[in-house]
Amino acid sequence: MTPYQLANNTPLTLSPNFILPEEKRPNLSEVLPSDSIPIIDLNDHDIDYGQGPSPLVSKISQACEEYGFFQIINHGVPRELCQKALAVVTEFFQLPPEERAQYLTKDHSKQVKVFNYYQKYEGIGKVTMWSETFSHPWHPTEDFTHLLPTNPPQYREVFTEYAREIGALMDRLLSLMSQGLGLEKDCLKRKIGERPAIYTQANYYPPCPDPELTMGLPAHNDISALVVLLQMEGVSGLQVVIDGKWVPVEPVPDAFVVNIADQMQVLSNGRYKSVLHRAVTNNRLARLSLPMFYAPNNDTVIGPIEDLIDEVHPPMYRNYSYKEYMDEFYRQEGARRRVKEAFELQH
Ligand code: OGA
Ligand code: NI
Repeated sequence: MTPYQLANNTPLTLSPNFILPEEKRPNLSEVLPSDSIPIIDLNDHDIDYGQGPSPLVSKISQACEEYGFFQIINHGVPRELCQKALAVVTEFFQLPPEERAQYLTKDHSKQVKVFNYYQKYEGIGKVTMWSETFSHPWHPTEDFTHLLPTNPPQYREVFTEYAREIGALMDRLLSLMSQGLGLEKDCLKRKIGERPAIYTQANYYPPCPDPELTMGLPAHNDISALVVLLQMEGVSGLQVVIDGKWVPVEPVPDAFVVNIADQMQVLSNGRYKSVLHRAVTNNRLARLSLPMFYAPNNDTVIGPIEDLIDEVHPPMYRNYSYKEYMDEFYRQEGARRRVKEAFELQH
């Protein structure tokens, strides 16, 4: 049961299956906007004068090393298209529950699915997160369009156009990040593979009667390689760890949030950080986020890129296939996952 299926008139108190054990609650009063992730203007100089990385490459690289998260502005994706993408996804979540129910599943192998995240705690059992998630692949669009909803009627068209823009933006980010690591421009893209597994995971967080007792998404690291997330303006909820503290990522108009995910941390041999983050709820407004994930496919072998290994920087991870990584991810379902740690090498 999803939170907002419970009632169109939101319940006044949380039913027990949404209530976290005390030590796992978000402690919202302790979250202060003390520091924030960098905001990077993609119109910044991106010219390599043959004297090392361009200012843009340096900024991005530094943000990936220090924060693992940043926001980008002047990224070239039209504002109207972003608004339309958020609107169709919102409409999808506002369809009658019966309509969304056709996608509801616990089967991970399903390509198009609606599900709820949960955590399992000893003595308590499952605690459901205050959110609903809709996930589906988006690249190559011609392979997937026919799987996407026909209701709302504009979903396929808007999403196809949005996917094309985000695909181009991700290529550009991968190139900038490769340069930031001192690699050939196309290196990261090549390593992640010719047929990447590219999917989205729209998250809908209804207003929550008591945000202190529950979580929208539990603290986690993203398992893919790269994430470009669009969040609606005016409602915050995403928080990241900076210097050991939770810090909100406030929505910036016309910006995307970009973050490094696990595979990029491994490929960069630990230089680029996949940082812990979570989503909290609020009691006033529904919130929507639309992250787009870029991941290797199951057969791709991932490990630290050879050029980034030397005597001072021995490999931090062993090589593995992405299938192995995903198996480990599912094995840790319900727990505070520590997936890449299972592939760490000890020196
Ligand atoms: C995610 C995620 C955060 C948000 O979907 O992996 O971290 O802002 N979402 O909803
Ligand atoms: Ni995430």
